[in-house]
Amino acid sequence: MYKYRIGVVGAMGAVGTEMLATLEKSTLPIAEVIPLDVKENEGKTVSFRGQPLKIKTAEKGAFKGIDIALFSAGETASLHLSPIAREEGAVVIDNSNAFRMEPWVPLVVPEVNPEAAKAHKGLIANPNCSTIQMLVALKPLHDRYKIKRIVVATYQAVSGTGLLAIEELNKQVEAYILGKELPRSVYPHQIAFNALPHIDSFLENGYTKEEMKMFNETRKILDDPEIMVSPTAVRIPVFRCHSEAINIETEKPLPEIAEIVQILDNAPGVKVIDDVQNREYPMPVYLKGTDKVYVGRIRKDFTVPHGLNLWVVADNLRKGAALNAVQIAELLVEKNWLKGE
Ligand SMILES: NC(=O)c1ccc[n+]([C@@H]2O[C@H](COP(=O)([O-])OP(=O)(O)OC[C@H]3O[C@@H](n4cnc5c(N)ncnc54)[C@H](OP(=O)(O)O)[C@@H]3O)[C@@H](O)[C@H]2O)c1
Repeated sequence: MYKYRIGVVGAMGAVGTEMLATLEKSTLPIAEVIPLDVKENEGKTVSFRGQPLKIKTAEKGAFKGIDIALFSAGETASLHLSPIAREEGAVVIDNSNAFRMEPWVPLVVPEVNPEAAKAHKGLIANPNCSTIQMLVALKPLHDRYKIKRIVVATYQAVSGTGLLAIEELNKQVEAYILGKELPRSVYPHQIAFNALPHIDSFLENGYTKEEMKMFNETRKILDDPEIMVSPTAVRIPVFRCHSEAINIETEKPLPEIAEIVQILDNAPGVKVIDDVQNREYPMPVYLKGTDKVYVGRIRKDFTVPHGLNLWVVADNLRKGAALNAVQIAELLVEKNWLKGE
């Protein structure tokens, strides 16, 4: 059986670290994992299946012999290095925003639109973390009842911004307790004990880029140019797991809640936690390091004819990034789609 050489670009980062952890458990036949990062990190080690692996510099020549390159080193690195990786023979699965809306690039969530991956031209994009978890939860309902409009507010963890943001929250909490001035460099305002209705930069229409990613990516992934998405993206002082309050309106009437629960619980990648009598609902602190998309607080929206409210939580570093990317790699190998079109 052929075994694959997998490159991880940005291996020292928040997502890169999870990529390595996810690959450890993957069913992919792996010959070798090659961790790549900036030159300053060359020679440092990361661990894979109990073995130390030395970081190599992500540069021209580094991708030779690599079958699949998982990129999570930011947009600039993806723009610069992914053409090199493709030229050197690797299929790139990119976590950044660099190529998601390019018409020639499939934007893939394996539970939602696996077929889109087949036609790749050497690069597949991983959607934004908030879009991924929203669509894994909503696809089974969209298939049956056709969602017309989604109104969503996100409650996003600081790990979504990377390692420096995790450090910033830690330091601010520490300084707050000690009564010191709070250090601030990553976010425009204090993040500890705060909520920032500002993720990524503001656009002319008053929305942020993060919010418009949810609108545009949803339409592309669902291949539905009419579906409406009205988002508000908020950063909160949680380390891991994004939460989303989602309201949907469907074209067809929705069944009773018990049936909706059954549909969601049987859907790939979804688990329902919804027992309010026993105070059970999805929460970030308990779901760190998990792989599914968790749905709770499922209730009809009594203010419109066919409406539903849901609370959706997933680990942004896992399903929102590393796991989704590794699942795309597994899909390509399993379906024999690695060569693309
Ligand atoms: N965090 C999430 O939940 C999430 C979810 C979905 C997508 N993403 C995307 O994934 C990417 C990485 O995010 P992250 O949160 O893991 O960031 P991070 O913690 O800052 O890690 C990025 C890593 O890539 C390295 N790097 C930077 N430029 C590089 C280059 N040219 N070549 C090789 N390595 C390079 C960085 O090194 P230095 O620190 O020395 O610069 C760092 O080790 C971003 O595009 C982000 O938008 C993140």
